[in-house]
Amino acid sequence: MLHDAAVLLEADRIAAVGPYNDLRRAAGSGKPGREVEVAGVLFPGFVDCHTHAVFGAPRLDDHERRALGEDYKTVAARGGGILQSVRDVRALGESELVALLRARVRALLAHGSTTIEVKSGYGLDPANELKQLRAIRETATAERAALVPTFLGAHEVPPEFRDRRADYVRLLCEEMIPAVARERLAAAVDVFCEPGVFDVAETRTILTAARQHGLKVKLHADELEGSGGAELAAALGALSADHLAAISDAGIRALATSDTVAVLLPATMMFLGKRTQAPARRLVEAGAAVALATDFNPGSSPTVGLPLVMALGVSQLGLRYAEVVSGVTVNAAAALGLATDRGQIAPGFRADLVSWGVSDWREVAYWMGEQLVTAVWTGGSACPAPAGSVSLGLHVKA
Ligand code: NIG
Ligand code: FE
Repeated sequence: MLHDAAVLLEADRIAAVGPYNDLRRAAGSGKPGREVEVAGVLFPGFVDCHTHAVFGAPRLDDHERRALGEDYKTVAARGGGILQSVRDVRALGESELVALLRARVRALLAHGSTTIEVKSGYGLDPANELKQLRAIRETATAERAALVPTFLGAHEVPPEFRDRRADYVRLLCEEMIPAVARERLAAAVDVFCEPGVFDVAETRTILTAARQHGLKVKLHADELEGSGGAELAAALGALSADHLAAISDAGIRALATSDTVAVLLPATMMFLGKRTQAPARRLVEAGAAVALATDFNPGSSPTVGLPLVMALGVSQLGLRYAEVVSGVTVNAAAALGLATDRGQIAPGFRADLVSWGVSDWREVAYWMGEQLVTAVWTGGSACPAPAGSVSLGLHVKA
């Protein structure tokens, strides 16, 4: 923690950071640059390492049905759940998805996230999965946040393959993953590894194909029922194992002794009305790297705010303020394989910076749901302030 500090930027990188007077002297000898004074606290741009931001409409009925006592799986069996968003995304054109995603990326950026992982997973066939990934690529060229695309064709078995799921696994491995790799549409492949969705053996098959095509791997692991997903993530050398509310002791040990990051999503458990959360303290104490993310999606986590997730990290997961900060910076960057490039204010790192209107750094993880960002820089230049209120739903014009 530095007081009266300065950060010197050169092009898109951080050149130096330290006491203001030292940097002023060093910079003063070269050609004069532009100086911007920042009041409050400056953090590295946050990394939201787990979102499903390409979707159509919100799923309001799911929310209310759960409130009345139906669980996630019953809601899905009644026509809600992931497959409802699949029908929705299949009916939308790429430009409509781009318009929706652009608005959401601006909202994420306005909450301090300068690098955002975005998964596909609401297409579940070659054309519609690639349509989602292309929408992410197009949005990335138009918006100021950095987007990291992940292929999640294994989010659910699509209805047309319900009685021949092995054929869908084959389609993923033999057609969809090769196409994604060929067109460089994703950095990693993710699987929803959960009893009733994709089991451990299917997950291993899909992620092995991903690695053979040069893609990194991630898992939705042990979210609702433990099934050994965390152990599989560690064994495969996955970048991350995400959710983990039902992780076993063996899973904790496996993550602690691997480089796989434990990505925890406390807003999801809360929004689903669960009374349990991932064993964050035990993961930290065992030696695992813990990151936090929004899981932004229409079914289980309709929030774009990492500061809210950080506050939940403290009050629901039992993490310390410093742990939730590393959870959305260094450790979240590691969950995307970007730990040496962003997530720190240090020489050589990407110049993604966010200033916050607070006087104590801990306040970012304290004022629940407040909008505290005062300015954002990505790749070394200032982002325009968000124009008016942000729009997350379907009332965005393509
Ligand atoms: O991360 N767990 C699976 N996928 C999402 C839910 C997506 C949805 O319900 O649309 C999650 O919680
Ligand atoms: Fe998710």
